[in-house]
Amino acid sequence: MVKLTGLKKIKTAVFISGTGSNLKNLIKFSKIKKSPITIDLIISNTSKAKGLIFANEYKIKKRIFRFKNPRNDEKKILKLLKNENIQLICLAGFMKILSKNFIKEFIGKIINIHPSLLPKYKGVNTHVRAINNKDKFAGCTVHYVTAKLDSGKIILQKKIKISPKEKSTSLAKKVLKQEHKLYPAAIMKIFN
Ligand code: GRF
Repeated sequence: MVKLTGLKKIKTAVFISGTGSNLKNLIKFSKIKKSPITIDLIISNTSKAKGLIFANEYKIKKRIFRFKNPRNDEKKILKLLKNENIQLICLAGFMKILSKNFIKEFIGKIINIHPSLLPKYKGVNTHVRAINNKDKFAGCTVHYVTAKLDSGKIILQKKIKISPKEKSTSLAKKVLKQEHKLYPAAIMKIFN
């Protein structure tokens, strides 16, 4: 994987589709002195993403690409990323699948957070699946993004105990809390 070290902070874009709690958490992390990154761009595939409020709150450039024509939008995004000198892409609840062509332009520089102990439960509804399968543990994973969904090299993973009467909603809350620790820790691991 490409190492992006140097004296300057790594210009980072965060891609979202929803609430953006990971985005907010990454912005806060980026403000601390030891953080290797700055958040310079927020991309969403929908104007309805609640997380876009953090772009206004923290005065970060935001752009919406609806992915109606994914190829065109990916081209425009690539141009934008190059213009902004973005060196790292953090996917944080981004619900569109990026194409092989897009990923190869940023290989080793796109990371994602996924709410399961990968390679278990790729895709959606991870908590419901873990509970239905009577798993004892759930968790979250930060991994590199490759053309194969949720399959790139794992950077960090956190295991979380599923209680006997756990509901998917309570599990989601527990996991999300750990995600907010894991994503910054994974970024520190990459760049230190
Ligand atoms: C998180 O659970 C993340 O792991 C998954 O989507 C959710 C996004 O939550 N990929 P938020 O928008 O960051 O609050």
